[in-house]
Amino acid sequence: MNANAPLVVKVGGSTLGEHDTSLRDCAALHAQGRPVVVVHGGGAAVTDWQQRLGATAEWVDGLRTTTAESLQVVVAVLAGLINKRLVEQLIGLGAPAVGLSGVDGNALRSPTSERLGLVGETPCCDPSLIQTLLRDRRLPVLAPVGLSTDDPPLTLNINADAAAGAIAEALRADLLLYLTDVEAVLDEHGAPLAQLDAETEDRLRNCGTIQGGMLPKLTAGRRAQRAGARVRIIDGRQDGAVRRALHDAEASPGTVLI
Ligand SMILES: Nc1ncnc2c1ncn2[C@@H]1O[C@H](COP(=O)(O)OP(=O)(O)OP(=O)(O)O)[C@@H](O)[C@H]1O
Ligand SMILES: [Mg+2]
Repeated sequence: MNANAPLVVKVGGSTLGEHDTSLRDCAALHAQGRPVVVVHGGGAAVTDWQQRLGATAEWVDGLRTTTAESLQVVVAVLAGLINKRLVEQLIGLGAPAVGLSGVDGNALRSPTSERLGLVGETPCCDPSLIQTLLRDRRLPVLAPVGLSTDDPPLTLNINADAAAGAIAEALRADLLLYLTDVEAVLDEHGAPLAQLDAETEDRLRNCGTIQGGMLPKLTAGRRAQRAGARVRIIDGRQDGAVRRALHDAEASPGTVLI
């Protein structure tokens, strides 16, 4: 492992809850000199706020459809509430966190999805601003909104898993960790897979065992893997999940893409 190569950690699901140690792990790694980038989701909070405002959430293949109206909630909740809460927590842990979104510095651009509305499904990352922050020893925390490739651009909802994959690819990250709320990718018997090869992945996708929120992780994870990153999907609810994925690669729980 190259200790100077960036580590990209996608936090989401229950890892945004009270009891996980992921942010503590990220702050500790940063303090040891490791460049760390956090990318966050927050689907449940967006759905919660949509309901409070009397709107309904709709999904296709694990991706949220987004209208002009729901985009307002997406931006407010992801780039506002959740992003600032994570920055607050990281600063409380002593890490020099800087919150930004993929809009800022033109960091994430994507064509607008034809099937999902104001969503970028295939983002590309311009890593300049993130690299500037890393050179300045900051800890960037990215909210998954970005810009369309139109001229002039529009703000889009970007799936956080796709955003993390694109950022890992552009930064030539050594390791991309998807923290989620299941112990690993599960097979058709519900058993955790320590490793997942492309052929097994295709089979499990085709029979519907891999579905919903796991799909964008694997699609984006494969893209980052092709760019040279090791990709692991791990249970963010476990104490020290990030630390163990780094320091104890063999015994680390979760699934590694091979
Ligand atoms: N084969 C599978 N193995 C494990 N989990 C799966 C599988 N297929 C689908 N899933 C679902 O994927 C979910 C994880 O994705 P989900 O989008 O819900 O959370 P997240 O990406 O961690 O958080 P967020 O979307 O808030 O960023 C699991 O809770 C599980 O229901
Ligand atoms: Mg998700």
